[in-house]
Amino acid sequence: MPSSAEELREQVRAKYAESARAVAGDREGCGCGSGGCCADDADGGKFGEALYAAEQRDELPDAAVIASLGCGNPTAVAELRDGEIVLDLGSRGGIDVILSARRVGPAGTAYGLDMTDEMLAVARQNARDAGVANAHFLKGLIEQIPLPADSVDVVISNCVINLSTDKAAVLAEVSRVLRPGGRLGVSDIVAEDRLTAAERAERGSYVGCIAGALAKAEYEAGLEAAGFEQVSVEFTHEVADGMHGAIVQAVKTATPAAKGLPVVQPSGRAGCC
Ligand SMILES: C[S@@+](CC[C@H](N)C(=O)[O-])C[C@H]1O[C@@H](n2cnc3c(N)ncnc32)[C@H](O)[C@@H]1O
Repeated sequence: MPSSAEELREQVRAKYAESARAVAGDREGCGCGSGGCCADDADGGKFGEALYAAEQRDELPDAAVIASLGCGNPTAVAELRDGEIVLDLGSRGGIDVILSARRVGPAGTAYGLDMTDEMLAVARQNARDAGVANAHFLKGLIEQIPLPADSVDVVISNCVINLSTDKAAVLAEVSRVLRPGGRLGVSDIVAEDRLTAAERAERGSYVGCIAGALAKAEYEAGLEAAGFEQVSVEFTHEVADGMHGAIVQAVKTATPAAKGLPVVQPSGRAGCC
């Protein structure tokens, strides 16, 4: 077991770097498949490309589809509009960034943020193969988003927030970069409130997107503390006993001070999770 948050994050990074190398190998025809991570060999379609409609998969390079290890389809949730600026947290092979870039059109921009160099290389190649010019990939941590305050219309993410070792920092950063009234539309693994952290860890590993999952009430409270309203966490499919793929939606409060909420600073902590 890793002893610190740093070691846990490094374990996550190493796992996804290995998975990116497998995808890059596939591109060259080694037939390695998509590799473990948020999935195992017998996940039965609970993670990854099976969660995208056939017409969306047809819009994408094969390598982006193979690289998908999400737990839902945030682009189906977020209702992106022409000209909007979208940020995908933990963009992996770029599947949601490419789909978002197409949804927002040439007047809009889709950013993907990922900490793993190998993943960024796969995603950039996939965006080139898809022919989208308004998709950009940034290196960085979702706990320290390298974008200015109030600069994004919509934040999406697919099965990544559960991997963070500081979820309060992630929610505070999402609140900071979203413009007032901006939307969050996320797919993630979420636990039923009855499960303790130890019980979640019995059901799967941290790098496999299970042990680090928040409970539903923790997610809701964390979002409210970070300055969100219209918060909703809806289970979509069970991935283990009491653990679900879920759609998480919220809107950044337009006037946080007027509602007596703390105004979140870049290094702020929302005091949840
Ligand atoms: C489960 S995969 C994401 C799947 C992807 N969204 C998709 O739908 O295909 C996790 C990704 O998040 C990245 N990641 C995990 N923790 C991160 C963090 N704290 N900051 C930035 N990226 C992170 C990993 O490098 C990896 O590419």
